[in-house]
Amino acid sequence: GGATDYQAEDATISQGVAESNHTGFTGTGFVNYDNLVGSYVEFAVNAGSAGNAALTLRFANGTTANRPMDITVNGALVSDELAFDATTNWDTWVTKSVTVPLNAGANTIRATATTAGGGPNLDRITIG
Ligand code: GCU
Repeated sequence: GGATDYQAEDATISQGVAESNHTGFTGTGFVNYDNLVGSYVEFAVNAGSAGNAALTLRFANGTTANRPMDITVNGALVSDELAFDATTNWDTWVTKSVTVPLNAGANTIRATATTAGGGPNLDRITIG
C-alpha cells in the first residue's frame, strides 16, 4: 500500500503540547515539545508485514540551533540524536527521513528530545 500519515497532535505526548499558532501544518496542528531533555511524542504504527520502512518526520525549527532527537522503535534505539536543523522560522516545515525496522502488526515509534531546547515543532510522521 501507499504511505500513511500519523499526526503528532493525535499521538501520545509527554512533556509537550498540541498547538496551532503557526502556519503550514497538516491536520489540526503540531506538537510543541517542552524545552527540556526527555520530552517525547510516541506514535502507534500498524504494519502489514515485518521489515524495513521509511519513516519521514515533518518539522519546523525557528531557532538557529539543531534540536536533535533519539528515534526509538519498539523501545530500541534506531537513530541516535538525529539532527533537526533550523528551518528559518516556525512557519517553514521540512522533512527528515530514516529507515526503521517494523514488526508485523503493532509498533511504537518515539521521538525524544536529547537537548535542553527540547524537540522541534513536530507536524506529523509518514510511514512508507
Ligand atoms: C516559540 C514558538 C513555539 C516553539 C518554541 C520553542 O515559543 O512559538 O512554537 O515550540 O518557541 O522554542 O520550542
